[in-house]
Amino acid sequence: MENILQAKFLKEMCQTTANMYRLGWDERNGGNISYLLDEKEVGKYLDLEKVIREIPIGFEAKELAGKIFIVTGTGKYFKNVESDPETNLGIVRIKADGKTAELLWGYKDGGRFTSEFPAHMMSHIARLKVDPDNRVVMHCHPTNLLAMNFVHELDDRSFTRSLWQMCTECIVVFPDGVGVLPWMLCGNNAIGEATANKMKEYRVVVWGLHGVYGAGKDMDETFGLIETVEKAAEIYMLTAHLPRVNTITDENLVTIAEAFKVNYRKDFID
Ligand code: 13P
Ligand code: ZN
Repeated sequence: MENILQAKFLKEMCQTTANMYRLGWDERNGGNISYLLDEKEVGKYLDLEKVIREIPIGFEAKELAGKIFIVTGTGKYFKNVESDPETNLGIVRIKADGKTAELLWGYKDGGRFTSEFPAHMMSHIARLKVDPDNRVVMHCHPTNLLAMNFVHELDDRSFTRSLWQMCTECIVVFPDGVGVLPWMLCGNNAIGEATANKMKEYRVVVWGLHGVYGAGKDMDETFGLIETVEKAAEIYMLTAHLPRVNTITDENLVTIAEAFKVNYRKDFID
């Protein structure tokens, strides 16, 4: 067996959580990541027959039976992942019944996966139907995006338009737009179902007055998606109270989307 601390997926989890913490997106235990792993790859580092313990999921995730994820632990601080991955992360496999997860590694202090596991697993199910290459679901609390939630209406179309107008390349990075949920209680199946429902159409879902979810085929793509949304929100917050002298017009948006050949939301253009 090779040393799991040298595994690319583990290093990616450590580097990404550290980056997110330093960007101020993940105060205290804020935020969580789940990353769908390749069974053969995990088999290089772990005996897949050896289950440390079983953890109930709290809903049925039959579509994900047999799939293996590395997931941040509940109550764990992103700032601590890099120095102690085995306590702050866990590798789990969804059992055939879809109701239980088998712990293969991690959560060393007896912990368990994020309280947002329903939103993560339900989002993986939704995204895999649209894009079989989807691997990562990421949640965090980016400062400017959260601030924008307090001064902008929470509606998919108008929120997306405001973000697209803030940086020329936004429409290229998230041509599918941004889904927006109203304030909801977090950590339960209801917010998971609402998130997954938006994930059928969008790779970015804003949780009103809470944070954001992003989904993508790898860590860079998913991180980059949230990074771009947060940058746009920052420009919005830096300019919202000032007279608008110049703007990226709808004609500009169409021009760049067509030049980059992205399938943008036509109904979000005036
Ligand atoms: P966890 O510590 O359970 O991952 O929760 C953090 C969070 O951001 C809840 O939305
Ligand atoms: Zn949160």
